[in-house]
Amino acid sequence: MEHRKLVAGNWKMHGTAQSIAEIVQIAAAVPRGVDVVLCLPATLIERAARAVPGFTIGAQDVHIEAAGAFTGDVAAHQLHDAGASFTIVGHSERRDGHGEADAVVAAKAIAAMAAGLEVIICVGETRDVREAGRAVVTVSAQLDASLTPIPPTAVAYEPIWAIGTGLVPSLQDIGDMHAALRERLVAAYGEAGARVRLLYGGSVKPGNAAEIFAIPNVDGALVGGASLTAADFLPIVEAAAAA
Ligand code: 13P
Repeated sequence: MEHRKLVAGNWKMHGTAQSIAEIVQIAAAVPRGVDVVLCLPATLIERAARAVPGFTIGAQDVHIEAAGAFTGDVAAHQLHDAGASFTIVGHSERRDGHGEADAVVAAKAIAAMAAGLEVIICVGETRDVREAGRAVVTVSAQLDASLTPIPPTAVAYEPIWAIGTGLVPSLQDIGDMHAALRERLVAAYGEAGARVRLLYGGSVKPGNAAEIFAIPNVDGALVGGASLTAADFLPIVEAAAAA
């Protein structure tokens, strides 16, 4: 099934009020035929949503609960209230840095959906797992255990060793992984699983975006470092629109 591509930027812990100009520049230049979302730090969501009405803003994480004594956390409906319509859950920087297991990731995705957010669930293997030849089986199991009763908008395959390193799996390896993940999604959701957009993430840059978007079952990208500036992000968005 051919999908309209989705290019999601993940700003991680970058950006202050000064960055709004960059977001305005990105929002103004998104071409037709591609969906774009910028997943911003929680502190920038409302400011960005006001600056670029109609442009899709996302969050990077949500709490499982809707409210309560959870110092420092942000609930999904609060992010929605601030202007987010998407969120990432299960990024490897949350799984590893904050000990989030698959069941927590699934619970976060359920909480996000309940608050009206579209969800991008992330999965990906370590370098050791890749070198041991166990990437597909490991990531497939991770996906199965992270899924929600209702299909998410997107699943992002992000090999941990490719994030921020300039390393990217071979096009064949990306294709093999995405084919395996598509099978898991169809097994879980039937026809609706064919509509979940499968994003690749990990060192996507203007120079490699077009070849990645040409791989079967790659329906877009989750972009870290190269999403921080219009100069880097827009060529990636344009490559997706042209794919
Ligand atoms: P980079 O694009 O900087 O490698 O980051 C990928 C990522 O983690 C996006 O969520």
